[in-house]
Amino acid sequence: MEKIQVNIKDVLSMVSLNAIESLSDEAKDALRKLQDGTGAGNDFLGWVKLPGETDKALLDDINAAAATLREVCDVVVCIGIGGSYLGAKAVISALGNSLGLTKPGCPEVLFAGHNIGEDYLYDLQQYLQGKRFGIIVISKSGTTTEPAIAFRLLKEQLEAQVGRAEAGKRIVAITDAKRGALRSLATTEGYKTFVIADNVGGRFSVLSPVGLLPIAVAGYDINALVDGARFMEKATLSGTDSAAFTYAITRNALYRAGKKIEILVNYNPRLHFVSEWWKQLYGESEGKDHLGIFPASVDNSTDLHSMGQWIQDGERSIFETVISVDKVNHTVVIPSDADNLDGLNYLAGKRVDQVNKMAELGTRIAHVDGGVPNLQIILPEVNEEYLGQLIYFFEVACGISGYILGVNPFNQPGVEAYKRNMFALLEKPGYEEETAAIKSRL
Ligand code: PA5
Repeated sequence: MEKIQVNIKDVLSMVSLNAIESLSDEAKDALRKLQDGTGAGNDFLGWVKLPGETDKALLDDINAAAATLREVCDVVVCIGIGGSYLGAKAVISALGNSLGLTKPGCPEVLFAGHNIGEDYLYDLQQYLQGKRFGIIVISKSGTTTEPAIAFRLLKEQLEAQVGRAEAGKRIVAITDAKRGALRSLATTEGYKTFVIADNVGGRFSVLSPVGLLPIAVAGYDINALVDGARFMEKATLSGTDSAAFTYAITRNALYRAGKKIEILVNYNPRLHFVSEWWKQLYGESEGKDHLGIFPASVDNSTDLHSMGQWIQDGERSIFETVISVDKVNHTVVIPSDADNLDGLNYLAGKRVDQVNKMAELGTRIAHVDGGVPNLQIILPEVNEEYLGQLIYFFEVACGISGYILGVNPFNQPGVEAYKRNMFALLEKPGYEEETAAIKSRL
């Protein structure tokens, strides 16, 4: 297996190699803390060695549960939010048909619980009417409101459609081993369950059952995904590969040089949700104590005709990290046309990907000329193994980067603020004081 590569040549006109390399010792220290558990948030480091520690028995159990769901369901709804949603969504979208079509022989995988849109839930319920459907409900805490609402609605619908006993066979819960409402509910109802380890935080959980079960249900090879992650884990932790290191120190050097916004760029629509997953990983890990690079993303060429103007000419507070895919999965050649009315014959015989790559290169040169440092992450192909590598690469680089920044990358205290207000406004029992306080402000 090749390794994914990081290329920093197009940042060097804006930040010196010295400035980048001066962070090497901090990065080494950060990696050591991730390995020996001496840094902040050290009770959430289970993900560091997770790929290497994931045994065949667990993968077999997940594959067997996925096979059962595939057998009895035409649609599987994955309920979860944040880290209990984005990893599976990212991998399934990256590996799947570009138009969202289901893999032959596999159920359609839909998502819920990541919003509280009444119309979204209505449309979903209508769509599921009379269909053979199942549910994977995922919540580490087991108490998150958004997925809990979606689960209550869909559980009721499933039980009404097939009866409580049969519904129980089509529901799998992924949650804490002991705590939380979802754990007690799953125990009472006798659902098949998988455990999210205490020391694996939500946004670092895609390589646990949280991501692996939905990915397997959708028909993708979770053993290869974990193999790719293991490969990167081994290479990074043994010090033989420095890609994550290079990425972490370069983005911190850019941040210190005033580049406060990082835009993750792709030229392959299938990577859209990889960017969404990455935004959560970095945003929730680093945005605290009034610090942190703001993670943004664009999908090109689409956004070259929208955000491209801002990136080329707007405030110079940004840098880009481009995920370049070496080899696409299919071949489409631009045909010659005898009349050439559209003037496109100069492209005849070229693959669409050749044109895409020139759009990518042309954009990189233009943006660098316009004062936007460009990092490049080179992914040999979009398949399970390389996605596994990429996931681990981003996770470990995030841990290193957060420690260099000086924050605890593994908590998310800021997420509680909206919840307190929402509960107070909804008059949740136990929030009486907050309710009175917030009402006095309205
Ligand atoms: O990264 C995190 O920890 C969060 O984004 C959680 O994944 C998210 O809040 C969902 O939490 P839970 O799985 O407890 O429902």
